[in-house]
Amino acid sequence: MDFKEHLLTFMDREEANSLLESFNNASISSFRLNSTKIDKIFDFIENNALEPLKHVKNAYYYNKEQLELGKSIYFYAGAYYIQEPAAMLVANLLNIGAGDKVLDMCAAPGGKSFNALLELNNTGLLVCNDINPLRAKILSSNIEKYGFTNTIVLNDNSANYKKCFSNYFDKIILDAPCSGSGMFRKDDFAIKDWSIDKVYKCKEIQQSLLEDAYSMLKGQGMMVYSTCSYSIQENEEVIVEFLNNHKDMELINISLNDEYNDSIGIHGGLRLYPFKYKGEGQVMFLLKKNSDDFNDFVFNKKKDSLYYRRIEQDVFSCLDELDIKYDKESVVKYKDQYYMINVPFFDFKGVNVIRYGLHLGYMENNRFIPSHSLAMSATKENKRLINLSYDDAKKYLQGYTLNNDRVGNGFAIVGFDNLPLGLVKVVNGQLKNHLPKGLKLSENLIK
Ligand SMILES: C[S@@+](CC[C@H](N)C(=O)[O-])C[C@H]1O[C@@H](n2cnc3c(N)ncnc32)[C@H](O)[C@@H]1O
Repeated sequence: MDFKEHLLTFMDREEANSLLESFNNASISSFRLNSTKIDKIFDFIENNALEPLKHVKNAYYYNKEQLELGKSIYFYAGAYYIQEPAAMLVANLLNIGAGDKVLDMCAAPGGKSFNALLELNNTGLLVCNDINPLRAKILSSNIEKYGFTNTIVLNDNSANYKKCFSNYFDKIILDAPCSGSGMFRKDDFAIKDWSIDKVYKCKEIQQSLLEDAYSMLKGQGMMVYSTCSYSIQENEEVIVEFLNNHKDMELINISLNDEYNDSIGIHGGLRLYPFKYKGEGQVMFLLKKNSDDFNDFVFNKKKDSLYYRRIEQDVFSCLDELDIKYDKESVVKYKDQYYMINVPFFDFKGVNVIRYGLHLGYMENNRFIPSHSLAMSATKENKRLINLSYDDAKKYLQGYTLNNDRVGNGFAIVGFDNLPLGLVKVVNGQLKNHLPKGLKLSENLIK
């Protein structure tokens, strides 16, 4: 069965033709400001007329032929996230608020996590996971770049980590792996790779992920299920079967307006088609758990615990030197690395944890070495943040040593326009570059 025949099994001919025609148009780009760091559009894009997205705060369409947003210093400073508009709506449906505990189960590269983290505004907790090791690393590095503190990154299978979080989360994002037809305009590979077999294989994975999500959602909690596939097998069928198996789960009506299509066969989901909505394809469902199940986890100081709270004084001295605010109680050592985290500890034995909150650094020869993440979490009020000129900021990102004889010796944070870029070690007027090797940029990657 080819893709058009497949579409005609659940869409009328006129809609299917409009959808297929829309694949000939260019994909749409948008970005969302990192409101934990900035609240204004920067000078370099002020002159371009930016059209705001509906339903998402601080998000704008932009013309990628005119603006190379991926090459600006602001991009490397985590001032905004580039994401297609339909995907930006998903996390918003959850109405995430300060203090919520949120899980993003298939999170890489981190677009929906980014949206959730803006709503959390460095409160509560986000646990984000991806099963693919390389993609989980990219996810973790994005969390670092955007300076978020309250985030645990896992690289595991939910069948394994769900035991740590039974009935725990207030909100869950399940942006499931799918056959990808909603991305046909953006991604040629998705077209070549499509087959009806893939649709059914994805459906099985989606069903098992949804079961795991259910076990981790607390009573009265909400979850959003989304895919970038148009196939009913991966959307409505998965949801109907899930609702049949879980009588305490309710489908909540997503009501936006008539640019959007209702789900097929059941009322309440949302189908975004590129010929109606200005963005790529996305299908989503909002679900609520009507039970009282709830679990909180309180740290159990077991002798064989992976966590240590006896933290060397040098760690705190370095945080003071870098003018990083901390609560002593929230600093922990986990597998030789130091982190700051404000939530109870989880029994993560056997789970592949790649970031346990804000990474602070590690000890080397009895000296504490601060991490890049620590620098990226600095706020604009930080007294050890040195603002660089545009040219020096560029040089810093390329790995050069800079000079500044007005700054005292020791670790410092360098930035541009009050946005941190990374660490330096100041030695007699020389700013020795501590940008991690993998983050150094070649000249052509930055404008
Ligand atoms: C649609 S993408 C996620 C996009 C992401 N939510 C965002 O907004 O940036 C689906 C992701 O699911 C991951 N994945 C596939 N199977 C998975 C599984 N069983 N558990 C967790 N992640 C999985 C893939 O590696 C991929 O990164």
